[in-house]
Amino acid sequence: MKVDVLLGLQWGDEGKGKVVDVLTPKYDVITRFQGGPNAGHTLEFDNIKHVLHNIPSGIFHESKMNIIGNGVVLDPISFKQEIDELEARGMDMTKNLVISKKAHLILPTHRILDAASEASKGKTKIGSTLKGIGPTYMDKTGRNGLRVGDILSNFDEKYSDLKKKHEQLLSMYNFEYNIEEFEKGLKEGIECLKKFTLIDSEHQINGYLKDGKSVLAEGAQGTLLDIDFGSYPYVTSSNTICAGACTGMGVAPNKIGEVFGIFKAYCTRVGSGPFPTELECETGEELRKAGHEFGATTGRPRRCGWLDLVALKYSVMINGVTQLIMTKGDVLSSFKTIKVATAYKIDGEETTEFPFELPDNLEVVYDELPGWNADLTGMKSEDEFPEELNNYISYLEAELEVPITIVSVGPDRDQTIVRA
Ligand code: GTP
Repeated sequence: MKVDVLLGLQWGDEGKGKVVDVLTPKYDVITRFQGGPNAGHTLEFDNIKHVLHNIPSGIFHESKMNIIGNGVVLDPISFKQEIDELEARGMDMTKNLVISKKAHLILPTHRILDAASEASKGKTKIGSTLKGIGPTYMDKTGRNGLRVGDILSNFDEKYSDLKKKHEQLLSMYNFEYNIEEFEKGLKEGIECLKKFTLIDSEHQINGYLKDGKSVLAEGAQGTLLDIDFGSYPYVTSSNTICAGACTGMGVAPNKIGEVFGIFKAYCTRVGSGPFPTELECETGEELRKAGHEFGATTGRPRRCGWLDLVALKYSVMINGVTQLIMTKGDVLSSFKTIKVATAYKIDGEETTEFPFELPDNLEVVYDELPGWNADLTGMKSEDEFPEELNNYISYLEAELEVPITIVSVGPDRDQTIVRA
């Protein structure tokens, strides 16, 4: 068996949580392989909205195993909050959630360092979610970090040593902080983590594949936020692309099967950084309102713009996408025409290649397609799709050279149409 990977092709918030939840029944095991509680995967069913930050989106299916892989950074405080919320709904996750011992721990001082660093940047701030993700990955690559497996012996001592290093760093910033409340939470979080089975996820996942079990790896954030290939430095701190699934789980590249790439029928971005098709006008506001484009983790309004094929083609290439999933087509229902970026003009030169940098003077070349002007949210099959939507889908498939196999027409599990 192989691992199928599902990931975002834009700047995150493409609706990965919902789609993983829909695909989960087909799989035995769901894994997270990168990122941390900066992810906010929203799932809706039975008229209840659930937002997951640390836990894989397969958790609502009792018979499925969920794995937090080694590439994830785990915050014991936020993890415990999430577990408490789910337990309050009557769920017991100790049997179907396991955690890699090699996942790195986000500590209170990582959160404080994140805030201090972002505050010191002034106007050039990255738009960090201030969850301590960046400093934790810095400690990982700097070979200072603490891993989940470290909670099993002498944790207090190890924590105190690392905290001293962090305090030295913090003394360089003029930043006031209060760590006590965080540290109380850390203690409780560590105790909560101890209730779960801690594993060597590389052995367990490869073992599952050998035993013929199907595995779905769930990406967080999006390709254009990837630390290597995103719009650096306005990116996240991990490899969000398909290759990150290999390093974040300990699975060889030849063990990757389908690569599901999710994109919205338009674009959004949270935080700072270049966004070529951004609509800073009424149309952008209309998109934001119709799409409820406010962050699941931070509540921040998302920046909105037209679909960007230059960026999307780049994401398809980097990830080796084999199937496309389009979400939020329903949000475009009220638009008479819909624009799609097909090229960039930089210093008068047209390019269809995603460039090293996205300069301020970048101009966007658009195609304009007829809108569908119809409510898609109640549709149950593609036979009901208006002609204009079918044309939009065919146009994108021709441009991207990958089939769009699923179209999501609303936030609920049931609002998902698998194309023949
Ligand atoms: P990150 O990993 O943080 O990037 O999150 P994500 O990709 O899981 O997306 P997130 O859940 O934050 O945002 C998607 C939002 O759109 C959620 O509120 C979903 O319920 C909603 N959603 C998903 N698919 C659709 C759709 O087809 N139509 C509409 N209207 N909403 C959708």
